[in-house]
Amino acid sequence: MSVSGKRIVVGVSGGIAAYKAVDLIRHLVDAGAHVIPVMTEDAHRFIGEVTLSALASEPVHKSLWNDESPIPHTRMGQTADLIVVAPATARVISAYVAGSSGDLLTATLIATRAPVVVCPAMHTEMWEHPAVQHNITVLRSRGVTIVDPEDGRLAGGDIGRGRLAATSKIIEAIETTLANSASHSLRDMEGMHVVVTAGGTREPIDAVRVIANRSSGKQGYAVAAVAAARGAKVTLVTTVDREAPVGVSIVCAETAQNMHDSVLQLLPEADVLVMAAAVADFRPKVVSQSKMKKSNGVPEIELEPTPDILGAVAEVRVPRQVIVGFAAETDDVLANAREKVAKKSLDFIVANDVSAPDVGFSHDTNAVTMVFPQGKETVVPLSDKHTIASAILDSVVQIYREKQ
Ligand code: PMT
Repeated sequence: MSVSGKRIVVGVSGGIAAYKAVDLIRHLVDAGAHVIPVMTEDAHRFIGEVTLSALASEPVHKSLWNDESPIPHTRMGQTADLIVVAPATARVISAYVAGSSGDLLTATLIATRAPVVVCPAMHTEMWEHPAVQHNITVLRSRGVTIVDPEDGRLAGGDIGRGRLAATSKIIEAIETTLANSASHSLRDMEGMHVVVTAGGTREPIDAVRVIANRSSGKQGYAVAAVAAARGAKVTLVTTVDREAPVGVSIVCAETAQNMHDSVLQLLPEADVLVMAAAVADFRPKVVSQSKMKKSNGVPEIELEPTPDILGAVAEVRVPRQVIVGFAAETDDVLANAREKVAKKSLDFIVANDVSAPDVGFSHDTNAVTMVFPQGKETVVPLSDKHTIASAILDSVVQIYREKQ
């Protein structure tokens, strides 16, 4: 979700990365956000407040007691659309976890119901300390978005993990958090069971080799996360080894056959199926149980088609169910998507041109056209994958309601 028009409190605490808050504020302001800078006393040791206030066109807030408002923390906390702390030092993180409100920034963090994004930056030893890691785990469990620090040069010339994440990463996390929180307030999928597939299938060649593809599962996970946030019961059939989104049940799959079997088993209980997985179309006809030896020469591998999951779904689905496919294309994107939506009896297909920059496989962003069988087409321009997921689920909810 765009930051345009959003009121964003940017908390800056006292670490060497404080100077990078300047870049973050400039990007947020350029994107149309109303930025309210808050500095801790220690942040003043690293940068001057005039720089931040000039960029934000807003005075820097720094004290609980000398502000024009008698209760600046509650006023800022209540009116913010989002609070981001960049950089967040170990001290500020610890105070936030403890609910301690010794200064304006930590008091504002406690006084808000707005989503919070915390961007830690500190020396590697501090970042890896069990106390800091415990605090980070606690914040994550409370729904705070953590933008992990990166590897790189730290204060004093040391190299290691702890450098503040790149501005682009922080902006992306802010946009995703805003999109998630918008969908959290929407509980329009309560009572629905949504089955989502994610990731690329792996078809064995021999005991160690597979035919795979570049799918990271990010798009499918985003659909699952947003559907769960909107109140749906969600089952994610995935080939990807990553943490389940909050409230989502996981079913693991490796091959197209595994995914076919799981989807068809879940289908009778499902209201919605979203097939975001990149399923192999072909697999080796014969799988060698041992590792093929290079010394035996280049093997000739005969391929056969995998089961067409959506094809099988089309045969057993009932009309009240909403079935959504994806089309990953590089040429004639819309023509191919129109053909697939009809051939696979889908309610709609989500076409992505995976040859375009930042679109499709592995990226954090996507750009899609939802193609409906009756001829309607809805474009969702380049956005983070949660925003794409929200747009897909808006159409799902509308079609589902029309069918009941
Ligand atoms: O995972 P990410 O890195 O986030 O990338 C996202 C994505 C690019 C994988 C995703 O946006 C996407 O496009 N997924 C579908 C990829 C794909 O397999 O497209 P396709 O055009 O080959 O297949 C069309 C549809 O048929 C898909 O819904 C697919 O899941 C389904 N299919 C394909 C083969 C098969 N044997 N059975 C199927 O049901």
